[in-house]
Amino acid sequence: MKRVYVTRGLPEPALKPLRDLFETEVWDRNEPIPRGHLSEVLGDVDGLLCMLTDEIDATLLGRAPRLEVISQMAVGVDNIDVEECHRLGIPVGHTPDVLTETVADTAFALLASIVRRLPEGEKIVRRGEWGPWSPTFLNGRDLHGTTLGIIGMGRIGKAVSRRCAGFNMEVVYTSRSAKPDLDARRLDLSELLGRADHVVICVSLNIETHHLIGVKELEMMKETAYLVNVSRGPVVDTNALVEALKAGAIAGAALDVTDPEPLPAEHPLLGLDSCLVVPHIASSSVRTREAMARLAVDNLVAGLEGREMPARYRQDRREQSD
Ligand code: DGY
Repeated sequence: MKRVYVTRGLPEPALKPLRDLFETEVWDRNEPIPRGHLSEVLGDVDGLLCMLTDEIDATLLGRAPRLEVISQMAVGVDNIDVEECHRLGIPVGHTPDVLTETVADTAFALLASIVRRLPEGEKIVRRGEWGPWSPTFLNGRDLHGTTLGIIGMGRIGKAVSRRCAGFNMEVVYTSRSAKPDLDARRLDLSELLGRADHVVICVSLNIETHHLIGVKELEMMKETAYLVNVSRGPVVDTNALVEALKAGAIAGAALDVTDPEPLPAEHPLLGLDSCLVVPHIASSSVRTREAMARLAVDNLVAGLEGREMPARYRQDRREQSD
């Protein structure tokens, strides 16, 4: 019987197909599996179901002589050395589509919250500092009628852009390829940053997008603009963002993802009222996480049975996974 390892506890109904077909072991603690332990178990498994918190690099892969298939419960696979997997003939599965709309909901929620300064208002209320109504108190910016810049027009970028119609917003975007089906203009990154009233990052993390937004790019944004990141923390240069926020070079930022992650409580970003940070929960609805778990299991089963995975990650179609 083939052996599989799952690096985090998943609901039993999702695990059932694995338990029925394979000898299945689960790291059942609510924290990432230590690298040393993962390295040990990989010596003896045929299939791995992993999380974005597991760094699956060439060293680890070198200690997994039997490994046939990797299935990740996330759409982004930047924690996995996919080139090495390709070289070793190990297919990698991921979970696109099933999380698209939930992540786009979160991106929009973050955007609306920061633009309307909701976190600042909420903190004031909780601190007991809610004074009399005032015409100038917490004046924020509008979302409706503005131009949104979407960096990365893959599935999630498109889902964010669909939501803009309801807010009467114009959309401009960057993307490797034009999307003629969209009622939106494709621009260079610098044009987009200069033109957009607010910017949402939906691009996947890879060598080309690491620190895509740094000092220069933040300077190109409008002083009144807000930046939202629902992709991966390292797409933004954190130090540059801290400085830009401190200097008022942009109005604020709302981040589902950060670099580092988790962000320590004493991190300078958390001392800034203009910054909203949530702990990488963009896809975290009950329904979506169940669907992600099911798809990750289906990918693993298909791969181990020698069938095409329902969602195999393909580098050549990388933009699709944005
Ligand atoms: C993903 O799937 O890559 C998301 O970041 C998970 O929330």
